[in-house]
Amino acid sequence: MKIIAYGIRADEKPFLDKWSEGNPTVEVASTAELLDENTVDQAKGADGVVTYQQKPYTASVLDKLGSFGIKYLSLRNVGVDNVDATAAKRNGIQVTNVPAYSPQAIAEFTVTQLMRLLRRTPTFDNKMANGDLRWAPDIAEELNQMTVGVYATGRIGRAAIQIYQGFGAKVIAYDIHHNPQLEKEGIYVETPDELYAKADVISLHAPATKENEHMLNDEAFAKMKDGVYILNPARGILVDTDALIKALDSGKVAGAALDTYEDEVGVFNNNFGSFDKIPDDRLKNLMKRENVLVSPHIAFYTKRAVRNMVYYAMDANKSLIETGQSDKLVEL
Ligand code: COI
Repeated sequence: MKIIAYGIRADEKPFLDKWSEGNPTVEVASTAELLDENTVDQAKGADGVVTYQQKPYTASVLDKLGSFGIKYLSLRNVGVDNVDATAAKRNGIQVTNVPAYSPQAIAEFTVTQLMRLLRRTPTFDNKMANGDLRWAPDIAEELNQMTVGVYATGRIGRAAIQIYQGFGAKVIAYDIHHNPQLEKEGIYVETPDELYAKADVISLHAPATKENEHMLNDEAFAKMKDGVYILNPARGILVDTDALIKALDSGKVAGAALDTYEDEVGVFNNNFGSFDKIPDDRLKNLMKRENVLVSPHIAFYTKRAVRNMVYYAMDANKSLIETGQSDKLVEL
């Protein structure tokens, strides 16, 4: 049995080697290159493909995999929004993801960034670096006095709720699917509008779908409390960046922590050598603001999560090849 793993980063390679040692019946090939039209031929002869990338898995790549007789594609991440579902189905390609490599990693990072915003640490760091050790005017807010609105209560949303509650914040949540435990706690509101109207902080934890593209737009911001904080560790496309910039300029939004950004592909996880050379003026506009924390999609990036992404995706792919089954199959 042969599995080829694409896009293997240096931090993933030791985990892949370890997995390979523990699975001597599997021939494991790997490349640092991403899966696209130029590299897909390397999969010829493999039984399954393991990947992680933010660029699209296009129809032509999936057709090629299909023509090589490859039926199993296992992603090392959660999001499947970049897979051409029609082409995958046409080729009978089954796709698995890793739905829970570490929801806590993302939740912890989200709350870390919120605390930095509330306690004005970026401002104090800058002031200190310039020899200004005064307190005023950068007085902080306390999370335990605030209402956090969690949008989507999947694994990550629920992990975030636990942490917010640990800080003593009041949590309300919106989701079409109600988690029974949270339902008992009575934290659900009926509509996104109700969440916007009541929350001091909006914490987004939804996957990207056609329906929620730019859900935070001019209209949504207008429905929120003045001075709201926006946290987006989920998918860049959920937030209309132009609308967010307007809301920051007007003071409607007091601060934002963006670990995702709608135009992040090709920009995040790259070294441009200097701030000026980052090829996206809108992103630089956000990055320059002390009340906006942009991070390059690193909420997931912990040792535990990276290990689990490699192990769970390899396990899923092997299981599909051996049995045609996996508990990580996704409905496209
Ligand atoms: C996902 O798992 O879908 C993520 O967003 C994290 C990714 C950058 C590896």
